[in-house]
Amino acid sequence: MDVFGRGKVILLGEHAVVYGRPALAAGIERGVRARVTGPGEMQLAIRPWGRDVRADESDELSRAFAAAVAEQPNARSVRIEVDVDLPAGAGLGCSAALGVAVVRALASAAGEAPSDDEVARRALAWERVFHGNPSGVDNTMAAHGGIAVYRRGEPLEPVRAKKPLRLVIGDSGESASTRVMVEGVARQYERDKPRTEKTLDAITALVQNARLAIEDGDVRALGQLMDMNQMLLGSLMLSTPALEEMCATAREAGAAGAKLTGSGGGGCMIALVADEATGERVRDALARTGRRAFVAEAR
Ligand code: PMV
Repeated sequence: MDVFGRGKVILLGEHAVVYGRPALAAGIERGVRARVTGPGEMQLAIRPWGRDVRADESDELSRAFAAAVAEQPNARSVRIEVDVDLPAGAGLGCSAALGVAVVRALASAAGEAPSDDEVARRALAWERVFHGNPSGVDNTMAAHGGIAVYRRGEPLEPVRAKKPLRLVIGDSGESASTRVMVEGVARQYERDKPRTEKTLDAITALVQNARLAIEDGDVRALGQLMDMNQMLLGSLMLSTPALEEMCATAREAGAAGAKLTGSGGGGCMIALVADEATGERVRDALARTGRRAFVAEAR
């Protein structure tokens, strides 16, 4: 049986969420599929990367795998194979989706079917190996999916969208470490707490309004709020010339709004579009500038 860990986008509120502020996030169809292929010596084969990972080795992936195994009561020694349908290190929650898929595979091998909350909790142990101070948004969304407001330490609040949310996701091709980007914001926070707090307050207001816009099906308003969030992320030094150029391309091609998603410093951009035809136009405009992009529906 295949099990799944979902990729995600942060619609608004990344980084602020590390400081206990709310973030709006959404699952996407792409993610990581895993299956137990038989008894083994606790092995994890990541097929598209040609990686064979063992829980008793010392690299990051092996330590993350060992952390997930340690969370599994009565773990059985198995071999797990995974297929990854997300770019890594690009802000789409690839490592969390991998963690969730592995946690679910380990649970199925042990004859257990944990709740999504419990899967998310176990996958946080996996995430901690990669990110020093994860807010928990990635592993929670990878386990639950849907559109939701996430706040550290609080139950996930599902958001009922009046209309489906259509996005174009474009990859800048630059990769950045979430840990390094989160540390960069922490340094700014230490250096100038009042200014950084003001920026975080402004992001919180945008998140709250964006939730209302989604509930009202107001694509225009949501797009404007995303643009404003992008400006604030830029002021925290999280954007790059490539991301700015991609946002501009998307807006010129008809997107209602565009911003980086995830840790920034590279990775992906998301653009909100009103309909399928606009989505295709935005995707093609990005492709003409040499960027890989795909249309996605939040779910
Ligand atoms: O880049 P990603 O997909 O790992 O997203 C990171 C989101 C941050 O808010 C920047 C960090 C976090 O732990 O929430």
